[in-house]
Amino acid sequence: MQPKIYILGIESSCDDTCASISVDTQILSNVISSQKIHEKYGGVVPELASRSHMQNIVPVVQEAINQAGISLEQINAIAFTRGPGLLGSLIVGTSFAKSLCLALEKPLIEVHHMKAHILAHFIDNEENKKPEFPFLCLTVSGGHTQIVRVNSYYDFEILGSTIDDAAGEAFDKCAKIMGLPYPGGPLIDKYAQQGNANRFHFNKPKVEGLDFSFSGLKTSFLYFIEKEKKQNESFIKENLTDLCASLQKTILDILFHNLELASFKSGITSVAIAGGVSANSGLRNRLKSYEKQKKWKIFIPDFQFCTDNAGMIAVSGYFNYLQNNFVDQSVQASARIRDF
Ligand code: KG4
Ligand code: ZN
Repeated sequence: MQPKIYILGIESSCDDTCASISVDTQILSNVISSQKIHEKYGGVVPELASRSHMQNIVPVVQEAINQAGISLEQINAIAFTRGPGLLGSLIVGTSFAKSLCLALEKPLIEVHHMKAHILAHFIDNEENKKPEFPFLCLTVSGGHTQIVRVNSYYDFEILGSTIDDAAGEAFDKCAKIMGLPYPGGPLIDKYAQQGNANRFHFNKPKVEGLDFSFSGLKTSFLYFIEKEKKQNESFIKENLTDLCASLQKTILDILFHNLELASFKSGITSVAIAGGVSANSGLRNRLKSYEKQKKWKIFIPDFQFCTDNAGMIAVSGYFNYLQNNFVDQSVQASARIRDF
Protein backbone atom coordinates (compact mmCIF):
# COMPACT_ATOMS: atom_id res chain seq x y z
CA MET A 1 0.00 0.00 0.00
CA GLN A 2 1.17 3.53 -0.86
CA PRO A 3 2.15 5.65 2.16
CA LYS A 4 -0.39 8.32 2.99
CA ILE A 5 0.49 11.89 2.02
CA TYR A 6 -0.14 14.68 4.54
CA ILE A 7 -0.35 18.24 3.18
CA LEU A 8 -0.67 21.53 5.02
CA GLY A 9 -2.66 23.95 2.83
CA ILE A 10 -2.56 27.72 3.34
CA GLU A 11 -4.96 30.20 1.69
CA SER A 12 -4.76 33.98 2.11
CA SER A 13 -5.72 35.41 -1.29
CA CYS A 14 -8.46 37.78 -0.11
CA ASP A 15 -10.02 38.37 3.31
CA ASP A 16 -10.12 34.85 4.80
CA THR A 17 -7.10 33.38 6.56
CA CYS A 18 -7.37 29.62 6.06
CA ALA A 19 -5.33 26.51 6.90
CA SER A 20 -6.12 22.85 6.37
CA ILE A 21 -4.53 19.45 6.78
CA SER A 22 -5.31 16.77 4.22
CA VAL A 23 -4.34 13.15 4.06
CA ASP A 24 -4.51 12.13 0.40
CA THR A 25 -7.92 13.48 -0.70
CA GLN A 26 -9.44 13.46 2.77
CA ILE A 27 -9.63 16.67 4.81
CA LEU A 28 -8.67 16.31 8.48
CA SER A 29 -9.14 19.96 9.39
CA ASN A 30 -10.40 23.06 7.59
CA VAL A 31 -9.95 26.25 9.62
CA ILE A 32 -11.25 29.60 8.33
CA SER A 33 -10.84 32.94 10.05
CA SER A 34 -13.08 35.46 8.28
CA GLN A 35 -12.25 39.13 8.67
CA LYS A 36 -15.33 41.02 9.89
CA ILE A 37 -13.52 44.36 9.72
CA HIS A 38 -14.42 44.90 6.01
CA GLU A 39 -18.21 44.82 6.57
CA LYS A 40 -18.45 48.48 7.50
CA TYR A 41 -16.41 49.60 4.47
CA GLY A 42 -18.71 47.87 1.96
CA GLY A 43 -15.84 45.85 0.46
CA VAL A 44 -12.42 44.40 1.22
CA VAL A 45 -9.81 47.01 2.21
CA PRO A 46 -6.52 45.45 0.99
CA GLU A 47 -4.29 47.09 3.62
CA LEU A 48 -6.52 45.91 6.47
CA ALA A 49 -6.76 42.44 4.95
CA SER A 50 -2.96 41.98 4.93
CA ARG A 51 -2.69 43.18 8.52
CA SER A 52 -5.37 40.75 9.66
CA HIS A 53 -3.65 37.88 7.83
CA MET A 54 -0.46 38.74 9.74
CA GLN A 55 -2.35 38.49 13.02
CA ASN A 56 -4.29 35.34 12.13
CA ILE A 57 -1.91 33.13 10.21
CA VAL A 58 0.00 31.55 13.11
CA PRO A 59 -3.06 30.72 15.28
CA VAL A 60 -5.03 29.49 12.25
CA VAL A 61 -2.25 27.10 11.16
CA GLN A 62 -1.78 25.96 14.76
CA GLU A 63 -5.52 25.26 15.05
CA ALA A 64 -5.53 23.26 11.80
CA ILE A 65 -2.69 21.09 13.10
CA ASN A 66 -4.36 20.62 16.49
CA GLN A 67 -7.72 19.68 14.97
CA ALA A 68 -6.07 17.19 12.61
CA GLY A 69 -4.31 15.57 15.57
CA ILE A 70 -0.95 15.36 13.82
CA SER A 71 2.46 16.90 14.41
CA LEU A 72 4.17 19.34 12.03
CA GLU A 73 6.88 16.75 11.36
CA GLN A 74 4.30 14.36 9.86
CA ILE A 75 3.51 16.78 7.03
CA ASN A 76 4.93 15.74 3.65
CA ALA A 77 4.66 19.17 2.00
CA ILE A 78 3.19 22.64 2.34
CA ALA A 79 0.88 24.03 -0.36
CA PHE A 80 -0.02 27.72 -0.55
CA THR A 81 -2.03 30.03 -2.81
CA ARG A 82 0.38 31.96 -5.03
CA GLY A 83 -2.41 33.87 -6.82
CA PRO A 84 -4.55 35.34 -8.18
CA GLY A 85 -5.75 37.66 -5.42
CA LEU A 86 -4.75 40.73 -3.43
CA LEU A 87 -0.97 41.02 -3.48
CA GLY A 88 -0.54 42.12 0.14
CA SER A 89 -2.74 39.24 1.31
CA LEU A 90 -1.00 36.66 -0.88
CA ILE A 91 2.44 37.77 0.35
CA VAL A 92 1.52 36.88 3.94
CA GLY A 93 0.54 33.28 3.10
CA THR A 94 3.41 32.86 0.62
CA SER A 95 6.09 34.14 3.01
CA PHE A 96 4.71 32.06 5.85
CA ALA A 97 4.65 28.89 3.74
CA LYS A 98 8.19 29.51 2.44
CA SER A 99 9.57 30.10 5.94
CA LEU A 100 7.88 27.04 7.41
CA CYS A 101 9.18 24.86 4.56
CA LEU A 102 12.68 26.16 5.13
CA ALA A 103 12.50 25.48 8.86
CA LEU A 104 10.97 21.99 8.47
CA GLU A 105 12.97 21.07 5.35
CA LYS A 106 9.78 20.07 3.51
CA PRO A 107 8.87 20.57 -0.16
CA LEU A 108 6.86 23.64 -1.17
CA ILE A 109 3.92 23.57 -3.62
CA GLU A 110 2.32 26.59 -5.30
CA VAL A 111 -1.40 26.48 -6.02
CA HIS A 112 -3.54 28.52 -8.43
CA HIS A 113 -6.56 29.76 -6.47
CA MET A 114 -9.12 29.26 -9.27
CA LYS A 115 -7.89 25.77 -10.14
CA ALA A 116 -8.14 24.93 -6.44
CA HIS A 117 -11.81 25.97 -6.37
CA ILE A 118 -12.39 23.39 -9.11
CA LEU A 119 -10.25 20.67 -7.52
CA ALA A 120 -12.36 21.01 -4.35
CA HIS A 121 -14.64 18.53 -6.17
CA PHE A 122 -12.08 15.80 -5.51
CA ILE A 123 -12.20 16.19 -1.73
CA ASP A 124 -13.68 13.02 -0.19
CA ASN A 125 -17.38 13.51 0.51
CA GLU A 126 -20.18 11.50 2.10
CA GLU A 127 -21.78 10.54 -1.21
CA ASN A 128 -18.37 9.66 -2.64
CA LYS A 129 -19.40 11.65 -5.72
CA LYS A 130 -16.53 12.98 -7.82
CA PRO A 131 -16.62 14.10 -11.46
CA GLU A 132 -15.06 12.08 -14.24
CA PHE A 133 -12.98 13.85 -16.91
CA PRO A 134 -13.75 15.77 -18.99
CA PHE A 135 -16.32 17.93 -17.22
CA LEU A 136 -17.43 21.56 -17.35
CA CYS A 137 -17.08 23.78 -14.30
CA LEU A 138 -18.83 27.08 -13.79
CA THR A 139 -16.42 28.89 -11.48
CA VAL A 140 -18.09 31.88 -9.89
CA SER A 141 -16.46 33.95 -7.18
CA GLY A 142 -15.92 37.53 -6.07
CA GLY A 143 -13.12 38.02 -8.60
CA HIS A 144 -13.81 35.51 -11.38
CA THR A 145 -16.56 34.08 -13.54
CA GLN A 146 -15.45 31.34 -15.88
CA ILE A 147 -16.64 28.26 -17.69
CA VAL A 148 -13.76 25.81 -17.61
CA ARG A 149 -13.36 22.53 -19.45
CA VAL A 150 -11.49 20.30 -17.01
CA ASN A 151 -9.59 17.55 -18.83
CA SER A 152 -7.54 16.22 -15.90
CA TYR A 153 -6.24 17.33 -12.49
CA TYR A 154 -3.61 19.30 -14.39
CA ASP A 155 -5.29 20.35 -17.63
CA PHE A 156 -7.82 23.19 -17.57
CA GLU A 157 -9.19 25.09 -20.56
CA ILE A 158 -11.13 28.33 -20.15
CA LEU A 159 -14.08 28.37 -22.59
CA GLY A 160 -15.53 31.69 -21.43
CA SER A 161 -14.91 34.33 -18.79
CA THR A 162 -16.20 37.72 -17.73
CA ILE A 163 -15.13 40.77 -19.69
CA ASP A 164 -15.82 43.11 -16.74
CA ASP A 165 -17.31 42.35 -13.29
CA ALA A 166 -17.49 38.89 -11.77
CA ALA A 167 -20.83 37.33 -10.75
CA GLY A 168 -19.94 37.69 -7.05
CA GLU A 169 -19.12 41.36 -7.65
CA ALA A 170 -22.54 41.83 -9.26
CA PHE A 171 -24.16 40.39 -6.12
CA ASP A 172 -21.99 42.48 -3.80
CA LYS A 173 -22.22 45.78 -5.70
CA CYS A 174 -26.01 45.56 -6.12
CA ALA A 175 -26.28 44.67 -2.41
CA LYS A 176 -24.31 47.81 -1.62
CA ILE A 177 -26.72 49.86 -3.77
CA MET A 178 -29.51 48.47 -1.56
CA GLY A 179 -27.57 49.45 1.57
CA LEU A 180 -26.73 45.86 2.57
CA PRO A 181 -23.35 45.15 4.25
CA TYR A 182 -20.42 43.38 2.54
CA PRO A 183 -20.42 40.63 1.35
CA GLY A 184 -23.96 41.05 0.04
CA GLY A 185 -24.18 37.77 -1.92
CA PRO A 186 -25.31 35.59 1.00
CA LEU A 187 -27.85 38.23 2.10
CA ILE A 188 -29.38 38.54 -1.38
CA ASP A 189 -29.62 34.74 -1.40
CA LYS A 190 -31.44 34.81 1.97
CA TYR A 191 -33.96 37.55 1.02
CA ALA A 192 -34.47 36.13 -2.49
CA GLN A 193 -35.93 32.96 -0.98
CA GLN A 194 -38.97 34.95 0.20
CA GLY A 195 -39.40 37.14 -2.89
CA ASN A 196 -41.06 37.12 -6.31
CA ALA A 197 -38.34 36.63 -8.93
CA ASN A 198 -40.58 37.78 -11.80
CA ARG A 199 -41.57 41.13 -10.28
CA PHE A 200 -38.73 43.26 -11.73
CA HIS A 201 -36.72 42.93 -14.94
CA PHE A 202 -33.15 44.08 -15.44
CA ASN A 203 -30.87 44.33 -18.48
CA LYS A 204 -29.14 41.21 -19.69
CA PRO A 205 -25.89 41.64 -21.64
CA LYS A 206 -25.37 40.83 -25.28
CA VAL A 207 -21.95 39.23 -25.39
CA GLU A 208 -20.63 37.01 -28.16
CA GLY A 209 -19.78 33.37 -27.47
CA LEU A 210 -19.31 32.08 -23.94
CA ASP A 211 -18.02 35.26 -22.29
CA PHE A 212 -19.95 37.06 -19.55
CA SER A 213 -20.61 40.69 -18.66
CA PHE A 214 -22.17 41.98 -15.45
CA SER A 215 -21.35 45.70 -15.40
CA GLY A 216 -24.44 46.62 -17.46
CA LEU A 217 -26.70 44.82 -15.01
CA LYS A 218 -25.17 46.71 -12.09
CA THR A 219 -25.72 50.06 -13.87
CA SER A 220 -29.30 49.22 -14.89
CA PHE A 221 -30.00 48.16 -11.28
CA LEU A 222 -28.54 51.42 -9.95
CA TYR A 223 -30.60 53.63 -12.32
CA PHE A 224 -33.76 51.67 -11.58
CA ILE A 225 -33.32 52.05 -7.81
CA GLU A 226 -32.50 55.77 -8.09
CA LYS A 227 -35.60 56.38 -10.19
CA GLU A 228 -37.89 54.48 -7.84
CA LYS A 229 -36.42 56.13 -4.76
CA LYS A 230 -37.27 59.59 -6.15
CA GLN A 231 -40.94 58.60 -5.97
CA ASN A 232 -40.78 56.55 -2.79
CA GLU A 233 -37.96 56.96 -0.24
CA SER A 234 -38.80 53.57 1.28
CA PHE A 235 -38.84 51.71 -2.05
CA ILE A 236 -35.93 49.40 -1.16
CA LYS A 237 -37.24 48.55 2.29
CA GLU A 238 -40.75 47.84 1.02
CA ASN A 239 -39.58 45.69 -1.90
CA LEU A 240 -36.35 44.12 -0.62
CA THR A 241 -37.28 40.47 -1.06
CA ASP A 242 -38.69 40.95 -4.59
CA LEU A 243 -35.66 43.07 -5.58
CA CYS A 244 -33.27 40.37 -4.34
CA ALA A 245 -35.22 37.55 -5.99
CA SER A 246 -35.46 39.37 -9.34
CA LEU A 247 -31.80 40.38 -9.29
CA GLN A 248 -30.66 36.87 -8.39
CA LYS A 249 -32.82 35.39 -11.15
CA THR A 250 -31.23 37.75 -13.69
CA ILE A 251 -27.69 36.80 -12.60
CA LEU A 252 -28.57 33.09 -12.74
CA ASP A 253 -30.23 33.47 -16.18
CA ILE A 254 -26.99 35.00 -17.50
CA LEU A 255 -24.86 32.23 -16.00
CA PHE A 256 -27.07 29.36 -17.12
CA HIS A 257 -27.52 30.73 -20.65
CA ASN A 258 -23.77 30.32 -21.23
CA LEU A 259 -23.48 27.09 -19.29
CA GLU A 260 -26.15 25.47 -21.46
CA LEU A 261 -24.42 26.78 -24.57
CA ALA A 262 -21.05 25.42 -23.41
CA SER A 263 -22.58 22.02 -22.80
CA PHE A 264 -24.27 22.06 -26.20
CA LYS A 265 -21.10 23.14 -28.04
CA SER A 266 -18.75 20.72 -26.24
CA GLY A 267 -21.18 17.82 -25.93
CA ILE A 268 -20.19 17.50 -22.27
CA THR A 269 -23.05 16.90 -19.84
CA SER A 270 -21.03 16.47 -16.64
CA VAL A 271 -21.32 19.89 -15.04
CA ALA A 272 -19.89 21.23 -11.78
CA ILE A 273 -20.02 24.56 -9.97
CA ALA A 274 -17.29 26.08 -7.82
CA GLY A 275 -16.30 29.32 -6.05
CA GLY A 276 -18.07 31.48 -3.48
CA VAL A 277 -21.22 32.08 -5.55
CA SER A 278 -21.73 28.30 -5.83
CA ALA A 279 -22.96 28.55 -2.22
CA ASN A 280 -26.03 30.36 -3.62
CA SER A 281 -29.16 28.28 -3.01
CA GLY A 282 -30.86 29.47 -6.22
CA LEU A 283 -27.83 28.42 -8.28
CA ARG A 284 -27.62 25.04 -6.54
CA ASN A 285 -31.35 24.38 -6.98
CA ARG A 286 -31.37 25.36 -10.64
CA LEU A 287 -28.40 23.10 -11.37
CA LYS A 288 -30.13 20.26 -9.50
CA SER A 289 -33.22 20.72 -11.68
CA TYR A 290 -31.03 20.22 -14.79
CA GLU A 291 -30.19 16.72 -13.58
CA LYS A 292 -33.74 15.57 -14.42
CA GLN A 293 -34.59 18.11 -17.10
CA LYS A 294 -31.43 17.81 -19.20
CA LYS A 295 -30.01 14.52 -17.88
CA TRP A 296 -26.84 16.31 -16.78
CA LYS A 297 -24.53 14.73 -14.22
CA ILE A 298 -24.13 17.52 -11.70
CA PHE A 299 -21.53 18.19 -9.02
CA ILE A 300 -22.05 20.64 -6.18
CA PRO A 301 -19.38 21.10 -3.50
CA ASP A 302 -20.05 21.02 0.25
CA PHE A 303 -20.78 24.54 1.53
CA GLN A 304 -17.49 24.68 3.45
CA PHE A 305 -15.55 24.10 0.20
CA CYS A 306 -17.46 26.67 -1.93
CA THR A 307 -16.18 29.93 -0.46
CA ASP A 308 -12.47 30.44 0.15
CA ASN A 309 -10.94 27.63 2.18
CA ALA A 310 -7.61 25.85 2.53
CA GLY A 311 -9.02 22.33 2.09
CA MET A 312 -9.07 22.99 -1.65
CA ILE A 313 -5.46 24.22 -1.47
CA ALA A 314 -4.30 21.13 0.45
CA VAL A 315 -5.98 18.74 -2.02
CA SER A 316 -4.57 20.67 -5.01
CA GLY A 317 -1.22 20.36 -3.25
CA TYR A 318 -1.72 16.60 -3.03
CA PHE A 319 -2.25 16.24 -6.81
CA ASN A 320 0.86 18.35 -7.42
CA TYR A 321 2.80 16.29 -4.89
CA LEU A 322 2.02 13.14 -6.90
CA GLN A 323 3.70 14.79 -9.92
CA ASN A 324 6.66 16.17 -7.92
CA ASN A 325 5.50 19.67 -8.86
CA PHE A 326 7.54 21.56 -6.28
CA VAL A 327 8.81 25.14 -6.25
CA ASP A 328 11.91 26.62 -4.63
CA GLN A 329 12.42 29.58 -2.32
CA SER A 330 12.56 32.03 -5.24
CA VAL A 331 8.78 31.72 -5.76
CA GLN A 332 6.79 34.95 -5.38
CA ALA A 333 3.13 35.74 -4.83
CA SER A 334 1.39 37.01 -7.95
CA ALA A 335 -1.84 39.05 -7.94
CA ARG A 336 -2.45 38.48 -11.64
CA ILE A 337 -1.04 35.03 -12.08
CA ARG A 338 -1.39 33.84 -15.68
CA ASP A 339 -4.80 32.28 -16.14
CA PHE A 340 -4.31 28.51 -16.43
O1 KG4 B 1 -14.63 32.29 -3.71
P1 KG4 B 1 -14.89 33.39 -2.76
O2 KG4 B 1 -15.08 33.04 -1.31
O3 KG4 B 1 -13.75 34.46 -2.81
C1 KG4 B 1 -13.15 34.85 -4.00
O4 KG4 B 1 -12.24 34.12 -4.46
O5 KG4 B 1 -13.63 35.87 -4.55
O6 KG4 B 1 -16.19 34.18 -3.29
C2 KG4 B 1 -16.70 35.28 -2.61
C3 KG4 B 1 -17.94 35.73 -3.35
C4 KG4 B 1 -18.50 37.05 -2.81
O7 KG4 B 1 -18.78 37.90 -3.89
C5 KG4 B 1 -19.78 36.63 -2.09
O8 KG4 B 1 -20.79 37.61 -2.07
C6 KG4 B 1 -20.19 35.44 -2.93
O9 KG4 B 1 -19.00 34.76 -3.21
N1 KG4 B 1 -21.13 34.55 -2.22
C7 KG4 B 1 -22.43 34.40 -2.58
C8 KG4 B 1 -23.00 33.51 -1.63
N2 KG4 B 1 -22.03 33.14 -0.74
C9 KG4 B 1 -20.89 33.79 -1.12
N3 KG4 B 1 -23.13 34.94 -3.59
C10 KG4 B 1 -24.42 34.59 -3.70
N4 KG4 B 1 -25.05 33.75 -2.83
C11 KG4 B 1 -24.39 33.19 -1.80
N5 KG4 B 1 -25.01 32.34 -0.96
ZN1 ZN C 1 -12.08 32.15 -4.16
